[in-house]
Amino acid sequence: MATERTFSIIKPDATRRNLTGRVNAMIEAAGLRIVAQKRLHMTRAMAEEFYGVHRERGFFSDLVTFMISGPVVVQVLQGEGAVLKHRDIMGATDPKKAAAGTIRAELAESIEANSVHGSDSAENAATEIAFFFAGIELVG
Ligand code: CMP
Repeated sequence: MATERTFSIIKPDATRRNLTGRVNAMIEAAGLRIVAQKRLHMTRAMAEEFYGVHRERGFFSDLVTFMISGPVVVQVLQGEGAVLKHRDIMGATDPKKAAAGTIRAELAESIEANSVHGSDSAENAATEIAFFFAGIELVG
């Protein structure tokens, strides 16, 4: 499998509970390298644009409000099959359905406050990475 990059967010419920290090340890234990990382507080406009694909969903407004309720940590992860590997270690979107040992099973509070986001494809990863990072900030 080829080396690739994926995009990750440690969400406000996790930064609020001081879990950035716990999440990063799980990412690194899975063999993924954090090649870019920054902590920021998204504006409403940024969150609405980032989650634009979900604009018509009933949960969109609550999702945006949650994502701007505190700081997030945005990251670029690199490794063999990084997109799928990251999705595996995150677990299912709904923590009640996430497999034991996954980030969401261990740490998430609810389907909304589910601690982490990860790209669902290499194509979307490239778009999401470019939304937050300049090329010079990615150090493999
Ligand atoms: P994320 O991977 O960040 O992408 C969209 C987010 O919407 C998702 O994680 C969930 O945290 C959030 N969300 C809130 N409610 C729902 C829902 N009913 N179904 C799917 N996603 C939801």
